[in-house]
Amino acid sequence: MSTALILVGGFGTRLRPLTLSRPKPLVEFANKPMLLHQIEALVKAGVRRVILAVSYRAEQMEQQLTVEADKLGVELLFSLESEPLGTAGPLALARSLLLTPSNEPFFVLNSDIICDFPFTEMIAFHKAHGGEGTIAVTKVEEPSKYGVVVYDGLSGRIKSFIEKPQEFVSNKINAGMYILSPKVLDRIELKPTSIEKEVFPHMAADGALFAMELPGFWMDVGQPRDFLTGLSLYLGSVRQSNPDSLYNGPGVVGNVLVDPSARIGQNCRIGPNVAIGPDVSVEDGVCIKRSVILKGATVRSHSWLEGCIIGWRSVVGRWVRMENNTVLGEDVIVKDELYINGGQVLPHKSIAASVTEPQIIM
Ligand code: GTP
Repeated sequence: MSTALILVGGFGTRLRPLTLSRPKPLVEFANKPMLLHQIEALVKAGVRRVILAVSYRAEQMEQQLTVEADKLGVELLFSLESEPLGTAGPLALARSLLLTPSNEPFFVLNSDIICDFPFTEMIAFHKAHGGEGTIAVTKVEEPSKYGVVVYDGLSGRIKSFIEKPQEFVSNKINAGMYILSPKVLDRIELKPTSIEKEVFPHMAADGALFAMELPGFWMDVGQPRDFLTGLSLYLGSVRQSNPDSLYNGPGVVGNVLVDPSARIGQNCRIGPNVAIGPDVSVEDGVCIKRSVILKGATVRSHSWLEGCIIGWRSVVGRWVRMENNTVLGEDVIVKDELYINGGQVLPHKSIAASVTEPQIIM
C-alpha cells in the first residue's frame, strides 16, 4: 500500500495556547513534531506518498515538513481546502491523488493520535477481509463517554456505531486510523462532511466495514491532559523497544527523554515521564515530573513542575511552583516565586502574580 492521507486541517482549539503559535501536527510530542511520528511509521510500512489535507497554515507545514520528508525518502503532497471540509470532504478533494492505476487501498489518519502504529498488521487484516474499509479500534475504560463501535468478534465486521451508550454494548472506540478502498470515494461528496457520522454508518449498514483492535497503547493527544498521559504511555513503550534512547543522567527517575543540546544543572530531580527539548536550560535544584519542556525554554533554579507543558522559549523563574495541566504558550515569562495551578497562558505574556485556580490568562 503506497499512499496515505493525513487529516491536518483542524484548528486544534483544545491544545491552545500551543496551537496559537503553530498548527497542532507540528507541536513536538516526545521531541518530534506529532505528524513525524506518523509519517515515519507509514514509511516503515512501505508508504511512499503522503497527502496532507490542510485547511490553514499550509506554508508553515510545508516549510517544516518538506525537509523531513526528503530525509525519509517519501513524497509529500498538499491538498489545500479553501473552507474546512471536515473529516470526509478532504478525501473527495484529493480524489485524483488517491486513485491510482492499480486501484490500491490507502491509509487515512487523524493527525493527533499516538500509538505503536501497527500499519503492517492493518494492511494484512484489510487484505484478508476483502471489504471496503478497515477501522483501527482501541479499548477504553469508560465507554459511556465515547461513541463505541459494535462488531463481530470473529470476523471484525462492524454492525453499528453507538454514541455514548448508557448500557454496555462495546468498549471499543474509533482510533482515528483507517484503510479505505478507492470505492469508498464514491460515497463522499465534495462538501463539509464527517467520515465518522456521515460515511462509516452507511458502510457498516452495507456490511462493508471491519474493525481491527489495536495491540498496545493508544492516545488522542489533542488536549493537554491527554498529551501528558500519551507521553507517559509512549515513553513506557520506548522503554520496552529502545531503552537506550531514554536519558539516564544523574537525578533521573523513570522514563525521561532529553535532547542532547539541553543543559541540566546540579541536584535536579527529573522524571518520571518528562520530555525536555532542544536548547532547553534547566538550572540547579529543579524538580520536573510528568511534563514537557519545549525547545529553547528555561527553567530557573529550584522550581518545581508537575503536569505542565512549557512553550517554546518561555522562562520559568526561580522557586516557582506550577502544576495541574498548566500550559505556557510560546515566549511566556513567569516571574520568581509564583504558584500557578492549571493556568493556560497565552503567548508572549509576562506573569507577575500567582494563579491559584485553573484559568486562561490573556
Ligand atoms: P480541536 O479543535 O481541539 O477539537 O482539534 P481539531 O480541530 O484537530 O479537531 P479533531 O481533533 O476532532 O480532528 C480530528 C482530525 O481531523 C485532526 O487530525 C484534524 O486535523 C482533522 N480535521 C478536523 N477538521 C478538519 C477539516 O475541516 N479539514 C481537514 N483537512 N482536517 C480536519
